[in-house]
Amino acid sequence: MEVIIVKSAAEAARKAARIYKRMLDEKPTAVLGLATGSTPLKLYSELVRMCENGEIDFSKATTFNLDEYVGLPEGDPNSYRYFMDANLFDKINIDKKRTHMPCGNADDVNEHCAEYDAKIRLAGGIDLQLLGIGADGHIGFNEPTSSLTSRTRIKTLTKQTISDNARFFGGDPDKVPTHAITMGIGSIMDARMIVLLAFGENKAEAIKAAIEGPISAMVPASALQMHKNVKVIMDEPAASQLRLREYYDWVYERKPEWQKDA
Ligand code: PGA
Repeated sequence: MEVIIVKSAAEAARKAARIYKRMLDEKPTAVLGLATGSTPLKLYSELVRMCENGEIDFSKATTFNLDEYVGLPEGDPNSYRYFMDANLFDKINIDKKRTHMPCGNADDVNEHCAEYDAKIRLAGGIDLQLLGIGADGHIGFNEPTSSLTSRTRIKTLTKQTISDNARFFGGDPDKVPTHAITMGIGSIMDARMIVLLAFGENKAEAIKAAIEGPISAMVPASALQMHKNVKVIMDEPAASQLRLREYYDWVYERKPEWQKDA
C-alpha cells in the first residue's frame, strides 16, 4: 500500500487526476471504477477541466460505479446516477452507454447484482478503481462485518452512514434510504489498481485502522492491505492519527519522479 499525504484535497485531486490521465493515455479503453460522495468532487472537477482542455480523453473508456441507493425514483437528485451525470458524465466526452451503475429499483435484486459483477468481468475487469472511505471504515457501502470476499449485493446501511449522508438529504436522516446496492469487497479487490482518497479529520480514525490496523471485516477498507497496487492519497487531517507518518513521507520524498503518477 502506498500512503501519500498531501497539503490539501485540491492537491490530492490533481495527483489522482494525473493517475487517470496516465491510465487513459496508456489504455484509452480502460475500465474505470468510480465513486460518489463529497470525496471525489474535486477530482471530477479536475477531470472535467482536463477534458475541456483536451488533456484527457474518455471517448473509449467504460465505467462502473460502486453503488446506488435502493428505492429512489429514477432521476432523483440524490441518486448516484444523477450525481455522476451532473458532476462528471455530462461534462466529459464519455459515451453514456458505457457508464454503468447498479440499479436501485431492480425487480430481482440478486439477479441484478450477479449481472453487474458479470458485466464487469465481460468488460475485462476494472483497471483503476476509485474509493472514498466512510468514517466507519466502509468502502462502497460495504459496512463493518461485510465479508471480505463479498460480491455485488444489497446492504443495509449503518446508522452512522445514514447520519453522515443526511447532509445530502437536507439534513434529515429519515430521508436517507436504509439500503444500497454495492460492489462487494471481493469485487473491489479484483480491480488492477485502486486509488483511495480521504479528506478531513473525521476520516482519521478509519484511515489509521485501514492502513495500520489488523485486517478485519470490522474495517472493510483494511482488506486493501491484501491488494498489490493501492495508493491512499489523503490530506493532513485525515493522516493525523497515522503512527508511521514520518515513514510515509520519507518513502514518498525518495520516489523517483517517473514513479510518482504511475
Ligand atoms: P464522503 O463518503 O466522500 O461523502 O465522505 C465517503 C464514503 O462514504 O465512502
